Amino acid sequence: MALTSQQREALRGKTAQRVRGLAGSATVQVMDKARRLQAEGRSIVDLSGGDPDFPTAPNVTEAAIQSLRNGFTHYTPSRGIPALLKAIAHKLATENGVTYEPAKEIIVMPGAKQALFVAAQALLNPGDEMILFSPAWVSYEPCAALAGATTVYVPMNMDTTVETLRARLAATISPRTKLAIVNTPNNPTGQVWSRELLQVVADAAQTHDFLVLSDEIYEKLIYDGQPHISIAGLDGMWERTMILNGLSKSHAMTGWRLGYIAGPEPLIGEMLKIHQHSSTCAASFVQEAAVAALNGPQDYTDWMISRYKARRDRLVADLNAIPGIHCDRPQGAFYAFPNISGTGLSSLEFADRLLDAEGVAVTPGEAFGPGGEGYVRLSYANSDEMLQEGARRIKRFVDNLRD
Ligand SMILES: Cc1ncc(COP(=O)(O)O)c(C=O)c1O
Repeated sequence: MALTSQQREALRGKTAQRVRGLAGSATVQVMDKARRLQAEGRSIVDLSGGDPDFPTAPNVTEAAIQSLRNGFTHYTPSRGIPALLKAIAHKLATENGVTYEPAKEIIVMPGAKQALFVAAQALLNPGDEMILFSPAWVSYEPCAALAGATTVYVPMNMDTTVETLRARLAATISPRTKLAIVNTPNNPTGQVWSRELLQVVADAAQTHDFLVLSDEIYEKLIYDGQPHISIAGLDGMWERTMILNGLSKSHAMTGWRLGYIAGPEPLIGEMLKIHQHSSTCAASFVQEAAVAALNGPQDYTDWMISRYKARRDRLVADLNAIPGIHCDRPQGAFYAFPNISGTGLSSLEFADRLLDAEGVAVTPGEAFGPGGEGYVRLSYANSDEMLQEGARRIKRFVDNLRD
């Protein structure tokens, strides 16, 4: 319905102040704009979203269909079905070396993003500070802001040493520090944190008594043999760490919305109340499919990893062949994060003008916090053809800038 501008303003004035001040998700916005342009008939290469182009494995889809046919279409226990909680606990114990009681210390939610939102609501008071290692994924800061907390940033990149990280962290911690989020492998840089770097955070968390949320959603996507280490497994950290994970990236299940959080019961128990009052439970048949994904063969995931690795190598080489662009080789996740400052454009100008001129959608680095300016993020969860076409168009765009 058409509203007058006055009606619009009046309605907006009735919305909550804390939401009005919030920016929408930069990645979702770029993705939406790219889809709009595509619908208008433009030829678009969308490298903005973190959504695997691979279909979900057939055995998982089959399990969901079977579940629906069996009539498993009602509310489940809020925390999750016992078989899935057990499968997650088994995975965490065998792959990550951390033990959780399925019936007390894990909650299944509709996506890891929802679990992050619930965790922020459960842990953060207005005035609390949350530490992010920047550049950092776009949704952490808004989730803290919605809980009334402030985000403070510790700059971090592939070259950050243990000493530098320790010094920067010490300079950032305050009596208000409540929580730090560690994300390994990192979105957007692809950095895989070493045990030594994680130990710096673990030492600080214990000395200054803050909590850690460990976002491990990309743990499977590591390409050069580094181990994935969960900070929850470091000495003295289980007691103050929550692990955030899900099936979106590891099993190409973004649209299914299946994530989970694991941690000590006093923290998880508070989150469960929010979960009960907001989502009730994750979708019933999706939970049964998730059991099949976790307990079934993992060769499909292995195959995806090998495809991502080949794409990464090609994309990084293509980007580094463009004058004015430098791209470090990401160690994990499925993003390239090239430095584009040599082109003379800000990350926002670069992303905007690239989309308008060449129809290539990338995410401006500034969306990932202070350390992101001068960079753009490209997702290589995309077909080889799209990636090669994207690189060709980016080269033409940069060539035209120079001319
Ligand atoms: C770092 C990071 N954490 C969490 C998520 C959320 O994943 P989902 O809500 O699909 O489980 C994403 C999705 O892009 C992500 O990049």
